[in-house]
Amino acid sequence: LLLDYSGVWRYRELILPAPERYVITRPEGNTNLYPVGMENCPVGRIGHRQIGTYAGLELFFLKHEGENPSGSFKDRGMTAGVTMANMLGASAVACASTGNTSASLAAYAAQAGMRSIVFLPAGNVAAGKLAQTMAYGATTVQIEGDFDAAMQLVEQVCNELGIYLLNSLNPFRVEGQKAIGFELLQQLDWQAPDWLILPAGNLGNISAIGKAFRQAYDLSLITQIPRIAAIQAAGANPFYQSYQQQFQKRVSVKAYTVASAIKIGNPVSYARARAVIEACDGIVAQVTDEEILAAKEIIDRSGIGCEPASAATLAGAHKLVAEGVIKRDERVVGILTGNLLKDNVTGIPQQRNSAVVKPNLDAVRAMLVQ
Ligand code: F0G
Repeated sequence: LLLDYSGVWRYRELILPAPERYVITRPEGNTNLYPVGMENCPVGRIGHRQIGTYAGLELFFLKHEGENPSGSFKDRGMTAGVTMANMLGASAVACASTGNTSASLAAYAAQAGMRSIVFLPAGNVAAGKLAQTMAYGATTVQIEGDFDAAMQLVEQVCNELGIYLLNSLNPFRVEGQKAIGFELLQQLDWQAPDWLILPAGNLGNISAIGKAFRQAYDLSLITQIPRIAAIQAAGANPFYQSYQQQFQKRVSVKAYTVASAIKIGNPVSYARARAVIEACDGIVAQVTDEEILAAKEIIDRSGIGCEPASAATLAGAHKLVAEGVIKRDERVVGILTGNLLKDNVTGIPQQRNSAVVKPNLDAVRAMLVQ
């Protein structure tokens, strides 16, 4: 069956039992789980091992969701969401986005022959994501405001105009993203890790993976539910602030971070994410932009590469191991949410190894031999 080739639809009984003729799939998923710990990294992969060394972890895996068709984990939710839109006979779908959801929505809507309309915070979406979204044919509304304003607006617009909303408020998006959890457990032969670490913005992904772990446990596929560590950027940390106050109240902030994907001040899936953290004895941590960029450099130089928001995962691992929250011999899986090519932050150390030189040997020698 064609659906068996998708890392989402392979688990359809647990996600969405849609008739095959309605399913919109690339296929997606089947992303690699790289062993990068000091003990489990294959001998000779010196670059990859640097990641485990930086984290201080012996048994560490990175699951690269940037290997999905549009370059981010969003494709997992979008295949389910657009399939549902297709079953409902929707002719137009919409979302607000910091760039990855919009690119994924545009790609899947195009495949289904639907109109897509996306609301983006003007000037705050990485150029590669914006170009990708427009190339797939989405009607792109850049609003003068931040992501949180775009999110509010898209809900109003969808209600008013009868457009099918495909933000992670949409339960079928979350159902599709559960496949990240199922797939990583299967790759580990259903031996659940002690910890799962991921970047947290609008809080849809933690809701999805938390739900997947719970379902796998209830079905006796695993005997232990991994603890989840949600990592926020320090300048966009409403979930962290709420966690610090034992979740007594919901917090919203004016967000700022170099990791534009998670530049979100008022996450829509707050309630679901909070329930997940409480149920799995999870934690919420924050890392600075400097820590995010330092972690990104390690991941990029290892040859794996990721976008800035994804590097919050390694920055978080580094910090939590140093603080003794995560023990160095625990089994840890980190999610890399987006591809390196998605977001080229300029002016960071990565650019040190580049120069424009005159086309002659002397100039090249001067650059290489210093
Ligand atoms: N990492 C990347 C690369 C993202 O694009 C996002 C969210 C996250 C992490 C956070 O995931 O929102 O489920 O907590 N991007 C959304 C978007 C907001 O519009 O592309 P989350």
